[in-house]
Amino acid sequence: MLYDNLTINDRGHLAIAGQDTTELAREYGTPLMVLDEDWVRARCRIYVEALRDHFPAGSLPLYASKALSFKGIYRLAAEEGMGIDVVSIGEIHTAHQAGFPLERAYFHGNNKTDEDIAFAMDHGVGQFVCDNLDELDAIDAEAGRRGIRQKLLLRLTPGIDPHTHEKINTGRIDSKFGAAIETGQAEELVVKALGKQNVELLGYHCHIGSQIFDHTPFCDAAILMLRFLAEMRDRHGFCAPVLNLGGGMGVPYTDADPVIDYKANIEKIGKLVADTCETLKVPAPAILMEPGRSLVADACTTLYTVGGTKVIPGFKNYASVDGGMTDNPRYALYQSAYTVALANRIQDPADFCCTIAGRCCESGDLIQENVTIPTPYRGDLLAVFTTGAYNYSMASNYNRIPRPAMVALSGGQHRLVIRRESLDDLTRNDV
Ligand code: LLP
Repeated sequence: MLYDNLTINDRGHLAIAGQDTTELAREYGTPLMVLDEDWVRARCRIYVEALRDHFPAGSLPLYASKALSFKGIYRLAAEEGMGIDVVSIGEIHTAHQAGFPLERAYFHGNNKTDEDIAFAMDHGVGQFVCDNLDELDAIDAEAGRRGIRQKLLLRLTPGIDPHTHEKINTGRIDSKFGAAIETGQAEELVVKALGKQNVELLGYHCHIGSQIFDHTPFCDAAILMLRFLAEMRDRHGFCAPVLNLGGGMGVPYTDADPVIDYKANIEKIGKLVADTCETLKVPAPAILMEPGRSLVADACTTLYTVGGTKVIPGFKNYASVDGGMTDNPRYALYQSAYTVALANRIQDPADFCCTIAGRCCESGDLIQENVTIPTPYRGDLLAVFTTGAYNYSMASNYNRIPRPAMVALSGGQHRLVIRRESLDDLTRNDV
C-alpha cells in the first residue's frame, strides 16, 4: 500500500492506523476526512529534531497552516514545540482560539491590509514577514502608533525555479511575492527597513515552491540567500540573525513518486548552510523552515460513498462519489495525481478503469481520471489518499454543498475534530 499506516484487515476492508474505514464511515458519514494524528506528530518530530540537530540554536520549523487549518492542528503544533506560518487574520483567529502562543507565529501574505496589520498586533503575532515597501511603511506606522518595535523578516525572491507546477512555483523573479534580489529591490527593502524606527529587522525569508522532491533547489536558494546576507553585512553593516527557507518538501501521492527522507534532506541542507557560512565568513543564522504539505498531506484519507457508475461504450466509464471539487479542488486546478482504492472491497480484482467524478454541476469536477478499481456499486466506499494538505483548506460550498467532517485517529481511538457543515451553516450569512 501507498503508506505503511494503511492495511487490509481480516474483513477485507481498508484500515487506517488499524481502524476499519467502513466503521468510521458508518459512524461519521461521508464524505469523511480521516486524519492520522500520530502520523502528523511523527512528521513534526522529524522536523523539530532535524532542525535542532543540524542547524544553529534558535532554528525551528513553522507549520505552514494554510495547508490545513483548524483549531486542533494549532494545538498539536504547539504541543510539538513548533512555530506557525499564518497568512490571514482567519488563521490568526483560529490559532488564537486554540490557545497557540502567537509570539511563535509568522504573519505572511503579499497584501496585508491595515486591518490585518492591526489585528495581528492586537493578538501579539511575534513576527511579520514583510512583502514590499508599501507594507513596510504600514507596519512601521502601526507599530509606531502602539509604541512597539515589530519584529520582521523580509520576503525575498532568490530567482530559483524548482520545476514544480507553475501555479505553486513562488520563488521566481517575476513572482507576485516578495522583493527580487536580482533587481536590487531586495536591497532597497533592507535599507528602508533598517531606517525604520518601529521595526526590528531579524532577517530574510524565501519560499521557492511546493511539492519539491529533491534537496538541491533548497540548497541553491540557501546559497543565494546567504550570499545576499553577507552582501548586506558588508554594504550596510546588518548581519541577519535569522534566515527562513520556506516550505515545499513534497510527498508521494502515487507509487510513481519518490519517497522522501525528510531527515536526510534537512541534514544535507544543514551541512550546506554551515559550509556556505564558513566560506562567506558570516555567523550561521538560525534557520526556519515552513513545512505545510509534508506534515499533513499523507496523514489524511478522504472516504466517499459511491453513487453509481456510468459506462459509455467506446468512450469512458465514470464512478460518481458524494463529494468532489468542493472538498478536493486539486485535480480540477492542477490535474494532481491521487491514489484511490475501493475501501470496503479492497482485495477484489481491479477490473474497472474509470474517471472518479464529483457531484457538482461542472464537467471539470473530477477527482482522478483513468484509475482501475474493482467495479464499484452504489453504496461502496471509495478512499482517496493524501488529502491532508490543501484539500479542506481550499474546500468550497459550490452548489451549496456542505464541507465534510474530519476525524482524527490517535492511539487506536477516533474523535471528531471538524464537524460536518449543516444545511443551516450554509444559510447562516444569508439575510
Ligand atoms: N511558506 C510559504 C510562504 C508558502 O507560500 C507555502 C505554500 C508554504 C510555506 C508551505 O509549502 P508546502 O510545504 O506546503 O509545500 N494549493 C497548492 C499549494 C500552494 C502552496 C502555497 N504556499 C496545492 O494544493 O498544491
